[in-house]
Amino acid sequence: MIIAANWKMNLSRQQAEHHLQHSASHPAHRQPHHQTILFLPACYLPLAETIIGVEHEIAFGGQDCHAESHGAFTGDISAEMITGFGGRWALAGHSERRQYHAEDNHHIARKMVQGLSSGLKMMLCVGENETQRQQGQHFEIVALQLRTVCEALADAGLRLENIAVAYEPVWAIGTGKVAHLEQINEMHEHIQQTVRTNAGDSDHTCHKLPVLYGGSVNAQNAAEIFALDNVDGALVGGASLDAEKFAQLCLIAGQNQPC
Ligand code: PGA
Repeated sequence: MIIAANWKMNLSRQQAEHHLQHSASHPAHRQPHHQTILFLPACYLPLAETIIGVEHEIAFGGQDCHAESHGAFTGDISAEMITGFGGRWALAGHSERRQYHAEDNHHIARKMVQGLSSGLKMMLCVGENETQRQQGQHFEIVALQLRTVCEALADAGLRLENIAVAYEPVWAIGTGKVAHLEQINEMHEHIQQTVRTNAGDSDHTCHKLPVLYGGSVNAQNAAEIFALDNVDGALVGGASLDAEKFAQLCLIAGQNQPC
């Protein structure tokens, strides 16, 4: 299982230090067949490099990386800046970036290519909004989000091996509304199928892609979500901000079979 924390724009410096220290020493993050990833605000990457270190079982990374390697992009962060501070991962396509930064599928695909080419592992977030779900367009929307990225990766000659996908229905993020187990299972199956169909030629024998669920995951609902066949972990926002509660979630994940 992969359990990833997305702190978003939360936690003071002092709170961040406390979280990182607590996490670095907690056995929940050193379980067999378990990977914890912390997606941090960019300014906390140096803290993570110092407190957690690059050899630790916990991996950390950025919540975004720019589609270009460098340049006049005020306020942005490059993949190389993330790896320069020991970051191994970045998120791309989170719905808050899609919504508040007007990132479309093609832009996100370019970020995926840039991140992977710079040595990062990339977690691609996909998911439909409430209207799209009500109108029955959710499979189509998610397929398009995936297809655009698969095509860009194939064009760039990149394989899918350093990628995870997080299915996050927008209507479940930060709302306390969790998708039904059946909705999660069928969408995760659809994601695997879509990626298999759209993978580049060299990728048809690739390992199974990790597909995580995200959207109001917490210690109360985690066990039944993690027990689903098609779920390989979770991307966790609100419930990741408290280091101890987050560690408890990772312990619950550790009780499941390896992905
Ligand atoms: P949430 O956020 O757990 O607070 O719903 C998940 C996310 O946005 O990644």
